[in-house]
Amino acid sequence: MSSNEIIDSSQGSPRGRAHWSSRVGFVLAAAGSAIGLGNIWKFPYITGEFGGGAFVIVYLGCVLLLGLPLMVAELMVGRRAQTNPVGAFQVLHKPGSLWQTAGWLGVASGFIILSFYSVIAGWAIAYVFKSLAGFTGTAEQIQGQFVALVTNPVQSIFWHTLFMALTIAIVAGGIKNGIERWSKILMPSLFILLTGLMFYGLFGTSGGWQAVSFLFNPDFSKLTATGFLSALGHAFFTLSLGMGAMITYGSYMERGANIVKDAITISILDTVIALMAGIAIFSLVFHYGMEPGQSVGLIFKTLPVLFKETGRWISVPFFVLLTFAALTSAISLLEVVVSYFVDRLGWKRVKATITMGTVTYLIGILSAVVSWQVSFRGQQQGFLNIFDYLTTNYMLPIGGVLTCLFVAWVMKEKDVQEEFGSTGLAYKGLRILLGYVTPLAVLMVLLHGLELLPFVSYE
Ligand code: PHE
Repeated sequence: MSSNEIIDSSQGSPRGRAHWSSRVGFVLAAAGSAIGLGNIWKFPYITGEFGGGAFVIVYLGCVLLLGLPLMVAELMVGRRAQTNPVGAFQVLHKPGSLWQTAGWLGVASGFIILSFYSVIAGWAIAYVFKSLAGFTGTAEQIQGQFVALVTNPVQSIFWHTLFMALTIAIVAGGIKNGIERWSKILMPSLFILLTGLMFYGLFGTSGGWQAVSFLFNPDFSKLTATGFLSALGHAFFTLSLGMGAMITYGSYMERGANIVKDAITISILDTVIALMAGIAIFSLVFHYGMEPGQSVGLIFKTLPVLFKETGRWISVPFFVLLTFAALTSAISLLEVVVSYFVDRLGWKRVKATITMGTVTYLIGILSAVVSWQVSFRGQQQGFLNIFDYLTTNYMLPIGGVLTCLFVAWVMKEKDVQEEFGSTGLAYKGLRILLGYVTPLAVLMVLLHGLELLPFVSYE
């Protein structure tokens, strides 16, 4: 199929492609994809682990220099090709092109990320109910509730089922009536809730100022090479890059919208939300004199102990917010997979959504049962950790770098220029970033993942 045929098919032919109904709708949906557990659960805890401000600066640098150009690249590929990630690389290169591997990797990442994502998001829903009931007892008892939840497969699977059902229901509704409509409701709600929580942290607790200085006052002595490279992996994860989500969302864009402007807006929204979440969370942590480096348990173990003091009016909005954020990301993960089955195999959307949602759900059970462990990198580990590790450290960076190289070296220059909308300095800068800087940076991350970087000591 030639690229023109595919582009024409979007103009109202029987297999006409759906499009976003408005620019705001697209930006909210794409920001919804970007803003997720990565911002509210992961960003604060890895920032805590790597000592605060210095990590934040490196992370901001990665978003600006590597994430933003890749987001522009993915949106350009998607909009130009008007099809799913696997098809897009073929439409823009040639049928059967080896570059479609990047698309395949994306579909595979979609399955794997969503499978464990839904388990964590399920815990968030469970905590909405726990918050409603109120946190009581000693700190050990409150933290014990989390252990009790995750080690009980029936409960964990129950919440995972509920979350996946919600995700399937929204995606089955389609682009305008499902994804866009719900993003328009959930994203503003999330923003209002988070603004309230941030102001409470800043002015209602005594930890506000300390939280701000922890996030913005760099202490470079605390920054390790691992911190540096985690910042890069996280920049990809948090912006939903490297797995075709932005290619897919881009494929529902109309000509005419300014991709660069939209990508900047989405990246800024994502970054601002992560920082706001950081302020809201660390204010409480410092107010009660706790340690910021609590790792994975920060949200589900440490915060509930603090919520016992603040009461329901802080804890309920917090976990509702976390659930909303997760939901708008999960729908984009499922959409990548669904778009492939709809475009390539001609499946009906509802059939594709239910079937693929169910398959992902079943894979998710591996992560929901934490006692199922296998030996991985010399340790017994649960599937959730393994899947998170493999996708963030390998699949997203590899998928991302292939997309960068594709846009910089393979895609027709005329197509790229038209999508970008200008040939000035910004365009030249983008080509350098995509063609050299991002691939090099990602190569370093991969080598680090394999513990092969010469200047880092791997004890
Ligand atoms: N960006 C989402 C988050 O921060 C996760 C995600 C990754 C979503 C990749 C879609 C694709 O939580």
